[in-house]
Amino acid sequence: METNSSQTQQPSIVAPRIVFTNHVPEAIDSMVEQLGNPPVYVLMDVNTQAFVMPLLQAQSSAVAKATAIITKAGDMNKNLEALSAIWKQLSDSNASRNSVLINVGGGLVSDLGGLAAATYKRGIKVINIPTTLLAAVDASVGGKTAINFNGIKNQIGVFNEPEAVIVSTMFFNTLPQQQLLSGYAELIKHGLLDSTETLDELLSFSVVYPRFNSEALMKVLEDSVMIKARYVRQDFTDRNLRHALNLGHTMAHAIEAYGMEVLSPEPHGYAVAWGLVLELILSQMELGLDDGIVKKLADYVLTNYGAFDIIPQIYDKLIDFMRNDKKNTSPDDINFTLLRRVGEPVIDCSVSSDRIKTAFDTYRTLMKLA
Ligand code: GLY
Repeated sequence: METNSSQTQQPSIVAPRIVFTNHVPEAIDSMVEQLGNPPVYVLMDVNTQAFVMPLLQAQSSAVAKATAIITKAGDMNKNLEALSAIWKQLSDSNASRNSVLINVGGGLVSDLGGLAAATYKRGIKVINIPTTLLAAVDASVGGKTAINFNGIKNQIGVFNEPEAVIVSTMFFNTLPQQQLLSGYAELIKHGLLDSTETLDELLSFSVVYPRFNSEALMKVLEDSVMIKARYVRQDFTDRNLRHALNLGHTMAHAIEAYGMEVLSPEPHGYAVAWGLVLELILSQMELGLDDGIVKKLADYVLTNYGAFDIIPQIYDKLIDFMRNDKKNTSPDDINFTLLRRVGEPVIDCSVSSDRIKTAFDTYRTLMKLA
């Protein structure tokens, strides 16, 4: 795979449609020009509007001339009403089929804007510019779009490849520590899916202020996005191989659901970090993953993310959340992506609730809760 240095003036294009650069306004103008200077619409939420838009408007002539569409922040606003409001603004301003929608923001914006763009006049072009680490490494890449519906997350959506993704670390210097760590858990997941070298590089990189340096992050981010892109390329519509990207997520979704129920929501990436520890424990039990890797990851997660306290009284509750997960086919066993070795995921591994409870016990020991 061809890669160019991210430190150069020119944006480096390391795969079709994914551009890594810290010169975002120039990259937007160049992209819009390559598309033949179509009418441009920029979707952002109220936070991006306040913190990112002034800079882009000042430095990108395409953004300065664009029509801005503002949506509410927060996952609870990733809904039909917000989608319909975007369609209406496109329609009221006579957006044509050759218009381009630029989604500037986190996962909410690319999910919502991606779906709006895929459906408006049967599809207009879309460019994603993620402004959070979590969106850069996950939601903005891979073409998944969705809204929540009928109380279910991401219930309605389509797969729709963006025309381009412009990935930059220039927006991350002001991200709160918790948001940086939350996004970084997805990079660690990609490291586990790739190789011990990538994993070790990630575990030794400092994502904690004041040592955190957004310029230095560019190289590890670039590698990480390309790991995801490799899985996506092999199974765009998520029928089999792409399930590997669910590593850590079956447990994470149960932790998040439990957190919501007890009104103490956990950031997605923190749940993923704890979910990775739990699923590596299961990988050791079911597939013989080296327990040195499990211990190394548990120590890293405990130091940086702390420990989510899985007390024995909530074991059954967490298992119920996992059992209700749409990916499960049997009422008894739960489906996981596990690892035989670093870089060797095994999808669709069924694990019984008794084995999961044993994994919870081991987690308590490794995370110094017992
Ligand atoms: N977030 C996992 C995927 O894009 O498939």
